[in-house]
Amino acid sequence: MSADIRRRFDRAGASYEAAAVVQARVAEGLAGLCPERLTGRVLEIGTGSGLLTRLLAPRLAAGGLYVALDLSPGMLSHAALPADVGRLAANGEAVPFAPGTFDFLASASAMHWYADPAASIAANVRLLRPGGGFALAVYVAGTLGELEEASRATGFGSVYPMRPASYYRDMLKSLPGVVWQMEETRHTVVHDSVRALLKSLKGAGVTHTAGRRAASPGRYREFVRYYEAHFGADGGVAANYHVAVVTGSRPAAPVC
Ligand SMILES: C[S@@+](CC[C@H](N)C(=O)[O-])C[C@H]1O[C@@H](n2cnc3c(N)ncnc32)[C@H](O)[C@@H]1O
Repeated sequence: MSADIRRRFDRAGASYEAAAVVQARVAEGLAGLCPERLTGRVLEIGTGSGLLTRLLAPRLAAGGLYVALDLSPGMLSHAALPADVGRLAANGEAVPFAPGTFDFLASASAMHWYADPAASIAANVRLLRPGGGFALAVYVAGTLGELEEASRATGFGSVYPMRPASYYRDMLKSLPGVVWQMEETRHTVVHDSVRALLKSLKGAGVTHTAGRRAASPGRYREFVRYYEAHFGADGGVAANYHVAVVTGSRPAAPVC
């Protein structure tokens, strides 16, 4: 599964930034919730092309360490990152650092790709020292709901299943002593055409192949007609993204 996700982002390395309209908005919104000044060791998971990194790394005080981790070497090789940021190709679900290593954890538009987000995000939070803070943005159910409906109705393509916001809320509630807030945000992007929408999703690595049904030209045409008829907007077609934005911190003292 993670090999499939890595391959798809490796392929998107060169096209990602031009296509990542929503991801850019999400990174900017998340950065707005992060501390203006960061100190010590910062871990960013799912760095991609560096949209969030370029906003956060300059906030790090002298002597600090910023680790930009991503599953995809292809994304990292295309990433435009500040020179002092360390790049690490690794799986966020098996981060090669000991618990308590970091002072701040950030991740935008990435952790919903985890095979087991609940267990892995909990483990990621444990990488923070007591009192360390985090800011995470994950996409939740409702994202690309139009595409899901058109796909279901016409048999063309498939959509990566996103978990509901309640899944992440339940996971956060289970973390002993962790203080957190969640805000749900929605973003709409209008594309010139269904073809432009699909091209943009591919460019950003947002493709889903598991369980894909045969994509005959007839089904594709039906899919386009359905999408245009149901989700036309402002001379183009609309795609919606539902994002859960979480900020919080580990308890400063051990919880008994
Ligand atoms: C949609 S991009 C977001 C990139 C960037 N954070 C941004 O805001 O534009 C998702 C990134 O998460 C990475 N990713 C997916 N699964 C991952 C995992 N298990 N561990 C680390 N990175 C992962 C992908 O390789 C990709 O670069």
